[in-house]
Amino acid sequence: MTFPFASDLFAGRRVLVTGAGRGIGQAVAAGFLQGGAQVLAHLGVAERDAAESFPGLSPAERERLAVTAGDLAGGAGVEALLAEVHRRLGGLDVLVNNAGTMLGRVPADAVDEAHYARVLDLNARSVVLLSGGAVPMLREAAQGGRGAAIVNTVSISARTGGSPGSSLYSAAKAFVATHSRALARELAPDGIRVNAVSPGTIMTDFHRRYSTPEKLEATAASIPMKRLGTAADCVGAYLFLAAPELSGYVTGQVLEVNGGQLMA
Ligand SMILES: NC(=O)c1ccc[n+]([C@@H]2O[C@H](COP(=O)([O-])OP(=O)(O)OC[C@H]3O[C@@H](n4cnc5c(N)ncnc54)[C@H](OP(=O)(O)O)[C@@H]3O)[C@@H](O)[C@H]2O)c1
Repeated sequence: MTFPFASDLFAGRRVLVTGAGRGIGQAVAAGFLQGGAQVLAHLGVAERDAAESFPGLSPAERERLAVTAGDLAGGAGVEALLAEVHRRLGGLDVLVNNAGTMLGRVPADAVDEAHYARVLDLNARSVVLLSGGAVPMLREAAQGGRGAAIVNTVSISARTGGSPGSSLYSAAKAFVATHSRALARELAPDGIRVNAVSPGTIMTDFHRRYSTPEKLEATAASIPMKRLGTAADCVGAYLFLAAPELSGYVTGQVLEVNGGQLMA
């Protein structure tokens, strides 16, 4: 995947992307590398190595890539990741909170406390803790004059409610959208912008796991652009929201990337 934009847009910028082992996060991390950033890619929990997740990098991009892994559903994983950011990047200009998933389709009358904790811990609590823990580094980076940015991944389901069995996931994404606006207001005086990207139906392992081919075909037919999205379709929105040269006066916004699936 190559993205046609200035290759030095993120030169000298230190970027953490969570959930970057595959799907949207992987494409976003590759986009930042092509833009010249120093990237710490958090690969998630599945066993894999950097070469598997990032084939085809140029030698210069490979040199600017560091990888780490770990479970973000627990507080210890978040603390360990923040320590890695200190150690590997020495500071942080851009935080992309992307790790997340549905953790199964569970009907409303089968939701129990354990499922609630699992879904909220991963999709909401980790974003709260990672963002809060990163604020001192982002604040310091912003003093360099180019500001700092948090870009969160939410979901079209935060506004539509999602499809059956995804109530907690959808609500957790709505929580993150509102939390993004709250932090945007709170951190603006520090030069930290906070925004979110809201993907529609993007063909990644997420839907290979949670949606049938028939459901996906029907969804594609209902989308004005008549196709599902790809991870590459999402990349520009993250880079735009992270680059002060492109979006320096944009904060507290949720950018919908969905081929027209939701317009409002
Ligand atoms: N695909 C869509 O249509 C869509 C739509 C709206 C929003 N989103 C959101 O977009 C983001 C990326 O999703 P995707 O479509 O790229 O799905 P994906 O391919 O399943 O990627 C999910 C990423 O999150 C990581 N992750 C999952 N559980 C984790 C845990 N407990 N601790 C740390 N990392 C964990 C995964 O790591 P492993 O590889 O180790 O599992 C993976 O890197 C998610 O936040 C998702 O909710 C996706």
